[in-house]
Amino acid sequence: MDRTDGESSGQQRWFADRYAANARFVSDLAEPLIEILAPKKGEFILDLGCGDGALTKLVFDSGATVIGADASFDQVTACKKLGIPSVAMDGHNLAFNEVFDAILTNAALHWMTSPDDVINGMWAALKPGGRLVGEMGGAGNIATIIRALTEALTCRGLQDKIEFPWFFPHEQEYRQRLEARGFIVDYIELIPRPTPLPGELTNWLDTFGEQFLFLVPEKERQGFKKEVAEAVRPDLFEPHGRWVADYVRLRFSATRSAES
Ligand SMILES: C[S@@+](CC[C@H](N)C(=O)[O-])C[C@H]1O[C@@H](n2cnc3c(N)ncnc32)[C@H](O)[C@@H]1O
Repeated sequence: MDRTDGESSGQQRWFADRYAANARFVSDLAEPLIEILAPKKGEFILDLGCGDGALTKLVFDSGATVIGADASFDQVTACKKLGIPSVAMDGHNLAFNEVFDAILTNAALHWMTSPDDVINGMWAALKPGGRLVGEMGGAGNIATIIRALTEALTCRGLQDKIEFPWFFPHEQEYRQRLEARGFIVDYIELIPRPTPLPGELTNWLDTFGEQFLFLVPEKERQGFKKEVAEAVRPDLFEPHGRWVADYVRLRFSATRSAES
């Protein structure tokens, strides 16, 4: 795939090889969700925002029937290579009607900035009594990185061009949205989870921060990334030599009521 494709849109892009190299920790750290989900043989489960399918595979291996849905064709292709049926689909426009026993979603919902559209689609996709188990960025997630990105763009007079790509809700806000749609919220918790990165902070910016990077002319981007990394170094670089991002996760489990 030509890596310059899509840059003109200014939107974040997802490449399976870059994701596997820089972001394997995302699915690795989500394994507790599988325990909460407790998938069973015979169940039909959707993994929304499945990425390259590393987490989806754990559901697959449980004996449940699982399909992945993701907006990125490249990620969907990687998921299919694991033998998991997968579809390219925007989570804001889910096209399922009461078919799933459960939905799993990890580290994806915060990329979907119209949350009620997504919640409506998940609710409709579940059978009555179906379970929703998820984790996403929550309030305060990567606040240090966001501050440094915003300051570095402001120094360049680009602050008005920033379109914030994430939705990081508080517990109460997300609970209310789920309940407003008719979900019974069994559990919801904001979990500060400082997260060691596998490499340089600049790699993290390449993988997750394109919507900010694309605001800067290409020839200035390396310098921009280094400037952001230096700005967060006092807070996010540990003395013994690794970057630790200031992640905060919102983990939840909810049920579509059996009567609805
Ligand atoms: C950080 S990755 C998480 C992937 C996977 N769930 C995991 O645990 O590794 C976020 C994923 O959300 C997908 N995504 C972002 N916006 C989306 C949308 N509007 N609809 C569906 N998927 C979306 C991206 O393509 C990407 O694969």
